[in-house]
Amino acid sequence: MTTQKKPIIVAVDGPAGSGKSTICSEVSTKIGWSYVNTGALYRGVGLLARDRGIDLEDEAAVGAMLEKLAGEIRWDYDHHQLFCGTENLTPRLGTVEAGNAASFIAKQQKVRQLLLPVQRSLAINAPKGAMVDGRDIGTVVFPDASLKVFMTANLEERARRRLKQLDGKSGSANPSASSNQSTPSLDSIMDDIARRDNQDSKRGEAPLRKADDAVEFDTSGYSQSEAVDALIAIIRDRGLLG
Ligand code: DC
Repeated sequence: MTTQKKPIIVAVDGPAGSGKSTICSEVSTKIGWSYVNTGALYRGVGLLARDRGIDLEDEAAVGAMLEKLAGEIRWDYDHHQLFCGTENLTPRLGTVEAGNAASFIAKQQKVRQLLLPVQRSLAINAPKGAMVDGRDIGTVVFPDASLKVFMTANLEERARRRLKQLDGKSGSANPSASSNQSTPSLDSIMDDIARRDNQDSKRGEAPLRKADDAVEFDTSGYSQSEAVDALIAIIRDRGLLG
C-alpha cells in the first residue's frame, strides 16, 4: 500500500491591503514554493462575467458561466498569471473594475462552491509547498493547512501601501496593483478599504476571520523585506523548510 504524502500548505488570510499578495509572492519565490493567489481567481471570475455581459448580481447566471469555464481556469505558479483557456486575464486583474466585480461575485455561494476544488487542486498539485492567500484559506479551503497565518496591518498603513502600488505599478501581475487608473486620495483609499473590510468580515458566505489556530502577523511598521524575512522565519520555525 502506498501512503499519500500530505501536501505542505501555508494558508495566509487577512484583510485587503495587509500585504498578503506582495509578501506571499516574494516568500514563495525565495523558498522555491508555488504561490496561489485566490483573490486573483475571484477577480478573474468577475471579469469573465463582466465580459459576457452577465448581471453580476444574478447568482444563477454567474454560477452557470463558471460551471462551464471552471475547467479552463489555469494559474501559472511560476509567473503568477491567470488564464482562462488561452486568454491571459492578468493585465486586467488589478483594475478597479476587476476588484468591484470580485467583491460582488465573492459573496455568492455557488461561485465559492465552484472555486473550492479549483483552489484545492492548484495547491495540492504544487510540486513542493504552496503558499495560498485569500480570506477563507485557513478556515474553509484548507482547515488542516500545515501553517495558518492571519496577516494584518493598521488601516492607515494598508491605505498607504495600496496608494504606493496604485502610483507605481501598472499592468503588474499583482492583482492588488492598478493599471490605467487616475490615483485616488489616501482618504478615499482608507474609506474603500474600511468598506471592504466590513463587507468581507460580515458576509454570510465564508466571512474573513482569523482561524483559532492561526498565527497572527501584524506587518505594521515592517518594510516589505522585513515582512518577507519574518514570514520565512515563521515557516522555518514550524519545521516546513526541511
Ligand atoms: O485580495 P483581493 O483584493 O484580490 O480579493 C478580491 C476579492 O475577492 C475581495 O472582494 C475578497 C474576495 N476574496 C474572497 O472572498 N475569498 C478569497 N479567498 C479571496 C478573495
